[in-house]
Amino acid sequence: MGIRLGVNIDHIATLREVRQAQYPDILEALFLCERGGADQITVHLREDRRHIQDHDVSRLLEHNQLPLNLEMAFVPEMVTKARKWRPYSVTLVPERRAEMTTESGLDLARVKKKIKLLQSLQRAVRVYGFIDASFKQVELAKELELDGIEFHTGPFAHAFEKSVRGKSDKELKKEIHKLFSAAKLATSLGLEVKAGHGLTVRNVGELLKMPGLSEMNIGHAIVARSVMIGLEASVIEMKSAILKTRSFSI
Ligand code: PXP
Repeated sequence: MGIRLGVNIDHIATLREVRQAQYPDILEALFLCERGGADQITVHLREDRRHIQDHDVSRLLEHNQLPLNLEMAFVPEMVTKARKWRPYSVTLVPERRAEMTTESGLDLARVKKKIKLLQSLQRAVRVYGFIDASFKQVELAKELELDGIEFHTGPFAHAFEKSVRGKSDKELKKEIHKLFSAAKLATSLGLEVKAGHGLTVRNVGELLKMPGLSEMNIGHAIVARSVMIGLEASVIEMKSAILKTRSFSI
C-alpha cells in the first residue's frame, strides 16, 4: 500500500488569522485537498490559537470528508476537547509559546508521568506521539501502548537543505540512518510509523524506503506551493512524490 498523505492546513488558517478575515475558508481547503488525493487532514490546535480555532475543528469534523488528525499539546484542556470531539486520531506534540513551529519531538517520559490523563485520551481516540528518532522514545511509545509514532523529520530536512547547498551530505546520511533504524525498531514493536515536519516535494523521495512508513503529514511546503499553482495541484504534486515505488532496504 502507498504512503498516506495527511495535509496539514494550519497555514491556511494562518493566512486568515493575520487579517482576522473570514477567508480563506477551511472547508474549501478540505474539498480541494481531497480532490488532490489527500488521505487525511491534519490540524494543530495550539494553546495560543495562532492559526486553527476550535470552530475549525468542529467544522472539519462535521463535514467528515476526510479523517481528521488533531495535533495538540498533552494538557488537560486539549485532552478534554479531544475526548469530546473524537477525531480519527490525535498526535501529541510538545508546545512552547514562543516557538515559530514545533521545534523538537515530545519527551514521552513526561507523558508517562501523567499516565491517567493519557489513558483517558486513549479510551476515546487513537493516540500517536510526535518524537525524535530515538530508540528510547520508541520503546516508551510501546510501553505507553500508543498506536504509533510520528518521527520529527525537521533535522533531516535541515540536513537535506545543507547537502543541496553543496556542503557535505554526511549529516544527511546520519539523519536518514537515525530515522530508518528507529523506524525499524518501531515496526518490529508493532507501532504504526509516520513522518512529518519540513517535508517538501524535493526531499520526500529520500524517505520513501523508511521501514514501515505508512503516512506523512505535510503542511507548510504544500500551502506555500499552492500560492503559486493552486491547492489542489499542490496536493497532487506532493501525492505523486510520495507514491513512487519503493522497496525496503534496511
Ligand atoms: N507533523 C507535526 C507533528 C507537526 O507539528 C507539523 C507542523 O505543525 C507537521 C507535521 C507539518 O510540518 P510542515 O508544516 O513543516 O510540513
